[in-house]
Amino acid sequence: MTDDPRGSVLATRLRALPWAMTELVRFVTARLTGAPPVQEGALAWAREHARPGDPATVLAALDRFAAERRFLMNVGEKAPLLEDVVRGFGPSARIVELGSFVGYSAIAMARHLGPGGRLVSIDVSPTASRVSRQMAELAGVGERTEFLCGKSGDVLATLREPFDVVFLDHWKGLYLDDARLILERGLARDGVVFIADNVGPLFGDNPYVPWMRARDDFDSTYVRGHVEYRPEIEDGVLVSRRRPRGAATEHAGAREPGA
Ligand SMILES: C[S@@+](CC[C@H](N)C(=O)[O-])C[C@H]1O[C@@H](n2cnc3c(N)ncnc32)[C@H](O)[C@@H]1O
Repeated sequence: MTDDPRGSVLATRLRALPWAMTELVRFVTARLTGAPPVQEGALAWAREHARPGDPATVLAALDRFAAERRFLMNVGEKAPLLEDVVRGFGPSARIVELGSFVGYSAIAMARHLGPGGRLVSIDVSPTASRVSRQMAELAGVGERTEFLCGKSGDVLATLREPFDVVFLDHWKGLYLDDARLILERGLARDGVVFIADNVGPLFGDNPYVPWMRARDDFDSTYVRGHVEYRPEIEDGVLVSRRRPRGAATEHAGAREPGA
């Protein structure tokens, strides 16, 4: 008997094997043929296939690039969940994202922001930060977005203003440290929602999950989805909403099963 809401780690990994092999071959072929970094290829494709200023067409172009050309490790079909959370805060929402890659999730969220809203996205890769910025400009959300380059912890340490939404989608082993840092530095507003991608069985156990689920000041739910563009492989996100102040003490001592 287990309280883990996810499917089996072993079965999921076995199911993912053919896909992983195909992607490995595509990756090696791209390296051997001197293809540009995948981010550059995605940007060139989006410029060719999307309508400037129209975020939906940029996202659709990226989806098609990932299906027909090269794998993109973006949030893919889980994007609507992020968008629902952002819409819940309204157009002035403030969002911080760890992991920009090509700007897919950033564009999906930023398209719901108005002039008072802001999305800050952090990536350690200069190529990822530059391409994401250019992709956001292509989508027409450049004014509401900022792409900062550096290690997540280093950049977070320079931020001052608190956020409504925190999207963790970078190095999986850093989720816990960076979430702690965000809370310790007061970068999370009351009612903040943390969304952690890739906590499904394919990725094994992430210490962030039991840590967050055990907190008395957050309510956490595992939302089952799939690895981007692979409907046969389970992945999931952990959505954790901070309770209004005062409610935490009412729940003190309460623990998620298995936490
Ligand atoms: C899964 S991709 C992000 C996908 C993006 N959020 C989306 O859904 O469109 C992960 C990104 O995290 C970045 N990354 C890895 N380790 C990092 C770190 N320590 N700090 C900041 N970014 C990091 C990688 O360079 C990569 O671009």
